[in-house]
Amino acid sequence: MADVSYSDPRLAAVYDALNPAGEDTAFYLEMAGHTPRTILDMGCGTGQVAVELARLGHRVTGADPAAAMLAIARDRPGGEAVDWIESDAARLAQEARFDLIFMTGHVFQVFLTDDEISAALRNLRRHLAPEGRLVFETRNPSLRPWQGWTREQTRRHMNIAGVGPVEVHYDVTFADDQLVRYETHFRFGEEDPVVAPSALRFTTQDQLASALAQAGFRDVRWYGNWDRSPVSPTSPEIIVDAALGSRDHLRY
Ligand SMILES: C[S@@+](CC[C@H](N)C(=O)[O-])C[C@H]1O[C@@H](n2cnc3c(N)ncnc32)[C@H](O)[C@@H]1O
Repeated sequence: MADVSYSDPRLAAVYDALNPAGEDTAFYLEMAGHTPRTILDMGCGTGQVAVELARLGHRVTGADPAAAMLAIARDRPGGEAVDWIESDAARLAQEARFDLIFMTGHVFQVFLTDDEISAALRNLRRHLAPEGRLVFETRNPSLRPWQGWTREQTRRHMNIAGVGPVEVHYDVTFADDQLVRYETHFRFGEEDPVVAPSALRFTTQDQLASALAQAGFRDVRWYGNWDRSPVSPTSPEIIVDAALGSRDHLRY
């Protein structure tokens, strides 16, 4: 079951204003390249990346468990060029095999347990073409980014077309080295705030390497940021570009 931030149509309608396309989108578009490929955007949300990929000429499937996010994706200009599927990563069951599977916008962090990570990775692996690649990112836990997710540091006022004035802030309610629970507070105009609880997992690179290996990924490239610099204790992201490869190409 997706977070209420994604499943409630009124909250989903705020997503694009809170999360505009940035360097991450440019990274994924460049990763897809200009040769038409078959691409699955898993956890596609409102479809920002999926629609751009389709515009570049790729055959794109966008999958997400939140119907409210998919409704926005379908209505987006260019949305008719994408196949939209309501499913989460572990339950997806498509005949198609994809050249690329992307999980953008830190989707990977919604998998909270080792079992959820394993189920998602194994099922995505089943959907990859033999030479296909799975690419996704997760925030680097060593920077403890959640320490900045306070009301004071995150409060934003926005005026969103079709929605009106909205004030949003985040507030962490629990954090250890792996799991962060936080609330998103939405205030529409003068109404009482709507509070949406969420949880995210912060995996280390070592944990990720082990989960990927167990799921059968043997060729893994790592980046610490969108400029493809290496992962380090101070890099904001852990970006994974993984393929099944062969045992002869063990890279970690
Ligand atoms: C932060 S949004 C990212 C959306 C989009 N990829 C982007 O870059 O804007 C996270 C998305 O993950 C979806 N999600 C939640 N649980 C999921 C799961 N188990 N499998 C796949 N997607 C999931 C949510 O519905 C939501 O649309």
